[in-house]
Formats: sequence, structure tokens, C-alpha cells
Amino acid sequence: MIPLSIPNISGNEWQYVKDCLDTGWISSVGSYVNQFEEKVAAFTGAKYAVAAMNGTAALHLSMQLTGVERGDLVIVPDITFIASCNAVSYLGAEPLLIDVDKYTWQIDLNLLESFLEENTFLMGSKVVDETEIIRSHIKHSGRRIGAILPVHVLGNMTDMDRLSAICSKYHIPMVEDSTEALGSTYKGKHAGTFGIFGTSSFNGNKIISTGGGGMILTNDEHLAKKAKHLTTQAKTDPFEYDHDEIGYNYRLVNILAAVGVAQMEQLPGFLKRKKEIDKYYRQSLENENLRFQKNGDNVEPNNWLHTMWVDHQRPMIDHLLKNGVQCRPFWVPMHELSMFKNCAFVSENQISQQVYRHCISIPSSTNLTDAQVEEVVKVVRGFE
Ligand SMILES: Cc1ncc(COP(=O)(O)O)c(C=O)c1O
Repeated sequence: MIPLSIPNISGNEWQYVKDCLDTGWISSVGSYVNQFEEKVAAFTGAKYAVAAMNGTAALHLSMQLTGVERGDLVIVPDITFIASCNAVSYLGAEPLLIDVDKYTWQIDLNLLESFLEENTFLMGSKVVDETEIIRSHIKHSGRRIGAILPVHVLGNMTDMDRLSAICSKYHIPMVEDSTEALGSTYKGKHAGTFGIFGTSSFNGNKIISTGGGGMILTNDEHLAKKAKHLTTQAKTDPFEYDHDEIGYNYRLVNILAAVGVAQMEQLPGFLKRKKEIDKYYRQSLENENLRFQKNGDNVEPNNWLHTMWVDHQRPMIDHLLKNGVQCRPFWVPMHELSMFKNCAFVSENQISQQVYRHCISIPSSTNLTDAQVEEVVKVVRGFE
């Protein structure tokens, strides 16, 4: 079976992990954690990067530090991986789901803007450090919008200038779910550096992997320090077991960070390979019945997971699997899941449902051989 998206371990991973094992620095402190944070910060242009045990933890903490509270609404696109909505729920907040664009599969900014225009009003929500915090509230319920979580689905991005302007106008803090978008840029600026926070995931199928891992990105020194503090049980003293608030054990261990450092060294090569595969798939397969994700204007995507929109999705999936090509349908839209079916869902044309019904992700690993990529194309073309 040609795999869908597997890690590419072909650099210094063994050497750095051996170093951890030889020296005994396998756990929560060690030089690789710092190196990994520095490398991700330098690569993305974020001033600070704080390692976390996975992308979900990074999302949870980022939203907490943005001030999302119990009872708040958090705007999330209806097409995303479940972790985005779960992280909102951990805080006692609720997703406010917005449909996606039919071609880019990112949050639909027209829908978002008209919804906010018609249904919200601005009001001071509390005073912090003698400053009044203004937020949008929903007219009929009075509920506060605590944040927006744009998801850079499959490493693509929306019009970030327009989204940032909407956030400013409606006083909505942005936390980017950039977990899939390491290496993606909008007008040359890296995903995850537009909001108060951005997040990365390094799970097994991401463009770089540490097995499991995540990163919090921010340009705010104070928030970066708080994030580090909270990922490490809010410990105030290296010797005494003294803690000043409820923290989390969300840190990334040194042995995984060592893998991350080796993976970061290879990231430029991985991005190049993803781009080659993307180009080949598009040139060989696109026709009136099959198209790939449309890249947003001014976006240089990381081409993380090649996903095609086809007319006959389930028969095509059967055909691919029968012929040795691993593939997956897209995520079930959030508003269809039992946990979120009562959340508000803003849609005109039920695009998320169509994306779910038509899209298939096909092999995208950076270590695919040319022969494997050609085989995928041959099998897709062989569908009748
Ligand atoms: C869109 C999205 N959000 C959040 C996550 C959560 O990341 P992790 O699996 O590292 O917790 C993932 C990846 O799995 C993701 O694809």
C-alpha cells in the first residue's frame, strides 16, 4: 500500500536521540527543547516559540492566555480536525461554526463578515489592568465572542489582510490553528504569526514530526513567558515545589525535541518535495471532474496533504484502496458531530457538507518515490 502521509526520518534523528540517551537528558529539560524552540521561531519569524506536548495542548493554552472564558463563543470553521473544537470546549467555551469557501476550503470571510455585521454589537466586557476590554457580543443572547480560530486547512490560507481587518473592526482576538501550516506564508509572512498566538503540530502525519508534539508561537514576550510557565505546572521555584496557579504538564520532552531539531534541518527539502508532488498531481490529474484545493491569493502553501475534489468519492476511495493507494475522506463537518450539533452554524450553501462528500486525500509523504507518485496517478486515472 502506498502510504498516505508518514514521517520522513532521514536526517540526524538517530544521532540526536542517541545523544539524549547517552547523556540521560531524555525528559522535560535539556538543550534540544531550547534548540527546537529557537529553530521554529527563526524559521517562522515568530519572536517566541514555546514547545508543547501536542498541537491540541498548544491550542488550549493559547486560547486560555488570549482570555477565552467559560460561556464565550469562539469562531471556528466548520471544516477542521476535531482538536480545534475540543480545545474550545476544554475552556467551557462553545464553537460558533462558519462555513468554508468552496474552492480554498478555508473559512468563508464573506459569511463571517455579514454574520458579524448583522448579529453582533460591541461592548466593554471587563477591565484588566485599568484597561477596558471591548469585545463583540451576539445581539439576541448577549454572549461574548472570545476569539476566532482560523484554521489553515491543509496548509492553505485565507486572505489574512482581510481577516485581520475584520478582527480589528469587531474586536475579536485571533488565535491561528496553524497546526497544518508549517512552511506556509501569506505575502511572505508565516502562518501562525498573524494572531496573538499561532500553533504547530508535529504529530505523525505533519510536514515534520516528532511522533507527537506542538509549538505555541507569539510575538508577545509576556505571553510567551506565561505559556512556558503554564506548560510546566506553573512552577515558581526550581527547588521548592511552589506553584502560583493551576498549570499543566504540557511540556515537550527533550528526546522528542531532539527529533524535532533533526526534522527542522530537513524542512526546506520537505517543502520542496511537497511542491514537486503537488505540481505533478495537478498537471497529471486535473480535469473538469477532478480538481485540487485552490490556493489562496498571495499564499505560498506548504502543500501538506494533497486532496482532490471528485464527483464519485466513495467509489473512488474503494478503487484506490483496492489498488494499493492509501487515502482518506475529509473530516466530518463539525456541525454534524453530536457534541457540536447544537452550536450555531452559519452557512448559505452547506459547502462543508459538499467538501466532506467530495474530497479525498491521497499519498503526500515527502519520502514517496517518483515511481510511487506515478503509480498513484495511474491508479486515479484508471477509475471508471
Ligand atoms: C487542524 C488541526 N488542528 C489541531 C490539530 C491537533 O494537533 P495534535 O494532533 O498535535 O494534537 C491537528 C492535527 O492533528 C490539526 O490537523
